[in-house]
Amino acid sequence: MTVSKKELGNDPNANNGSVNAMPTTNTKGKNRTQKVFIETYGCQMNLADSETMGGILAEDGYSSAETMEDADIILINTCAVREKAEERVFGRLTHLQPLKQKNPNLVLGVTGCMAEHLRETIAERAPNVDLIVGPDAYRRLPDLVGDKTGGQNMDALVDVKLDKAETYEGIPVKRKPGVTSHISVQRGCDKFCTFCIVPFTRGRERGVSPEEIIKQAHQSVALGFKEVMLLGQTVNSYKHTAEDGTFTDFSDLLLQLCEIDGIERIRFTSPYPTDFNAKLISTMASQKKICKYLHLPAQSGSNRMLGEMRRQYTRDEFDTLVKDIRTAMPDIAMSTDIIVGYPGETEEDFQMTVELLKTTRFDFGFLFKYSERSQTFAARNVEDDIPESVKKDRLKRIIEVQEEICGEIFPGRIGSTVEVLVDRDAKRNKNQWVGKTDDFKGCVFDKKDNGVGPGSIVKVLVTGATSHTLIGEQVT
Ligand code: SAH
Ligand code: F3S
Repeated sequence: MTVSKKELGNDPNANNGSVNAMPTTNTKGKNRTQKVFIETYGCQMNLADSETMGGILAEDGYSSAETMEDADIILINTCAVREKAEERVFGRLTHLQPLKQKNPNLVLGVTGCMAEHLRETIAERAPNVDLIVGPDAYRRLPDLVGDKTGGQNMDALVDVKLDKAETYEGIPVKRKPGVTSHISVQRGCDKFCTFCIVPFTRGRERGVSPEEIIKQAHQSVALGFKEVMLLGQTVNSYKHTAEDGTFTDFSDLLLQLCEIDGIERIRFTSPYPTDFNAKLISTMASQKKICKYLHLPAQSGSNRMLGEMRRQYTRDEFDTLVKDIRTAMPDIAMSTDIIVGYPGETEEDFQMTVELLKTTRFDFGFLFKYSERSQTFAARNVEDDIPESVKKDRLKRIIEVQEEICGEIFPGRIGSTVEVLVDRDAKRNKNQWVGKTDDFKGCVFDKKDNGVGPGSIVKVLVTGATSHTLIGEQVT
């Protein structure tokens, strides 16, 4: 299995690199020789989608390539949330041109949100692309790939049909080995924030059935995963009504997952502020397995901006929600997403966002400059009027504010004991383990000859910290 990830600036949620999700089994008994390599960009949902694609292709007899050079089919699974993400993929496609020249039969596909968003532009700007496949068309990948192998067709095959009902139930997802299993519980989004492309690239919101989610959770336990990460664009608006009328909301789903032996930790991302209710807060507070960490995207601290963005809450309502959550779970860690430079944002609006960060004191912040996305309400109706230099300056200043807060919060943990789920060797020092605390902070500590390894949950005394990592000593 090839895993190589590059850091992606200020967005630790993002993937940018090669994650070959292709497995090697074939349940349909087809005798294929082609090997596939999938490279994933963007959010954790995309990682999960790559594992779904891997499952679909493996079922049809395709096997996994160790490297791109070794592959007959390369799929680039893409993100469209900001222009930079798309430009990076265009750069990657150009970079792959020599591989196409070396192997004229190589099939190069672009999948995911950018395939949906820029279907025509991809065909124009990257004529070496053979397949353009949107997020709801992955079940047809084996046929599409099959039609393309051999290099007979000159034009790219395009399948970007959105499907209100597609939840990929029944696919034998092939998970990249690790300690955290990513399970999509919801697809699409109905919120239509004015800046956001996701409702256009991923279509309408739909919940995966609880039976399918529970089945995937059991399979994850059998494969040795210790933690499940539930994924959805507004994951806490999750709902599902079965044919017999049984209704399941997000709290119900969490409780069902808590019952599964072998799952030590449950996380979810990203909840939407107005989809919280008292039931969900008390469910989180009462269940030890549900990690005490919440990513709660605010986007702005200014009521005027929140209104313009069509977020469905006011600043006051957001503050009240944070207070309610912290009253129920005093030690909970929180992070947020912020956009600076949305059209019409004044220095005063920006200062309100600065003030939101300073008063709420999130443990992390994912901070972005506004990037206009065609099709969205904002692109169609308001001018992208904040000069790039102002956007850059506000982003720099807000990063400084959040860095200062992180620089206080992380060292503030020195002297405490945290529970760490060991993930892997630390990047910089193979004699150390790295893992996550319950509240989602990275923690490194020296290895001992004591049988601890990936998947172990250990107690660590925090002895040092940077603004993004805890450093400690294992105490049990
Ligand atoms: N509901 C999803 C949002 C996906 S997009 C989730 O919470 O994961 C992730 C973040 O990207 C958003 O919260 C927003 O802060 C940022 N974003 C979305 N569209 C953007 C745009 N056009 N420009 C800049 N940032 C954007
Ligand atoms: Fe995007 Fe808003 Fe949905 S940020 S994913 S439209 S909640």
